[in-house]
Amino acid sequence: MVLSGKRILLIISGGIAAYKSLDLIRRLRERGASVRPLMTKGAQEFVTPLAVGAVAADHVFTDLFSRQDEQDVGHIRLARDCDLVLIAPATADLLAKMANGLADDLALTVLLATDRQVLAAPAMNPHMWAHPATRRNIETLRGDRIRFIGPMSGEMAESREAGIGRMAEPLEIVAAAEALLHDRPKPLTGRKAIVTSGPTHEPIDPVRYIANRSSGRQGHAIAAALAALGADVTLVSGPVSIPDPFGVRVIHVERADQMRDAVLAALPADVAVMVAAVADWRVASAADQKIKKHPGESIPTLALTENPDILKTVGHHTMRPKLVIGFAAETQDVESNAKAKLDRKGADIIVANDVSPATGIMGGVRNRVRIVSHSGIEQWPDLAKEEVATRLAAMVAERLKQ
Ligand SMILES: Cc1cc2nc3c(=O)[nH]c(=O)nc-3n(C[C@H](O)[C@H](O)[C@H](O)COP(=O)(O)O)c2cc1C
Repeated sequence: MVLSGKRILLIISGGIAAYKSLDLIRRLRERGASVRPLMTKGAQEFVTPLAVGAVAADHVFTDLFSRQDEQDVGHIRLARDCDLVLIAPATADLLAKMANGLADDLALTVLLATDRQVLAAPAMNPHMWAHPATRRNIETLRGDRIRFIGPMSGEMAESREAGIGRMAEPLEIVAAAEALLHDRPKPLTGRKAIVTSGPTHEPIDPVRYIANRSSGRQGHAIAAALAALGADVTLVSGPVSIPDPFGVRVIHVERADQMRDAVLAALPADVAVMVAAVADWRVASAADQKIKKHPGESIPTLALTENPDILKTVGHHTMRPKLVIGFAAETQDVESNAKAKLDRKGADIIVANDVSPATGIMGGVRNRVRIVSHSGIEQWPDLAKEEVATRLAAMVAERLKQ
């Protein structure tokens, strides 16, 4: 029970997702945390302080200039007497003001005065999230060590629009709070890691592409596990339908050449874990317009050309990370193929998995891997992909210590 006895200051701002804060308070309290709520003026348009106070079983702070609250607790104590400041939902407006250091209401004043970890769960319309101003604000806040959970992709509550902007679910926020408050040792603190994940999409024309069945689950889990050990992680992800992992900088790309560029831009690093199922080939010249089907005409032939080999590029780079780990998805001769890859790619470790359809590994939730290095081969049992990630992150920490 990581949250047992922890004091969480929950700032609720004025977004439609404020209705989920009631459930969030319940979930946090179930786990033994005490929740002190603070609501912006906007938040009170969506849920009432009465409801929030009743679920939290605590006084709800709303006003910077309340004589009573200032006498009883005071905004500086409010900012410090907690283990974590959680903002859920975090509106575009609140994030913009935070990024600029404004302090014209109680929430902003507390956020400027706090010396505690701050975790924000943004929630807004996808266009608001994608707006360059919001992108700039998020980058600034990341630089100010504000941590984020979500937003997730999906349908918006108030409109039929879908996209990235939905607030993370209460249990996802709880898990993120637990990850932050966990007192685990962090052997990768100060280390930089680059992880790739997911498939790549290689365009045939503007609407069609060549892809593969990679879900990104293994790569995302590895990025999260390295971050949990304290590493500063950049995850370069191909198109996936799973949420960004917590506490990780994510760069979304589509094609192999974009993935290579993003990986090289993230160097130098202490470790690179190349998990993405990068397409070996792309269409030599993708059509600018949709290729049309005309009755009686011959079927088009796709001429393919080789894609950049990202693992090999990193493995032989002048800024080569101390530790380079590649994944080998094979359907036959798994071990001998992995061994051959070690030297060819300049890798220290190849994590080999058999992705024959019968294994259900590609796109599935479990994995069975062999760790191939110059010191031998280690077979790991059938494990959840998260467990493979945890073991691999521990191995990275051990290797980097040497
Ligand atoms: C119905 C409705 C829903 C809204 N939902 C959101 C939202 O989900 N996210 C957001 O950033 N702003 C949303 N807004 C706009 C904010 O309420 C507005 O920017 C407000 O100034 C936020 O104040 P606060 O950040 O101080 O709480 C919504 C406004 C309305 C009227």
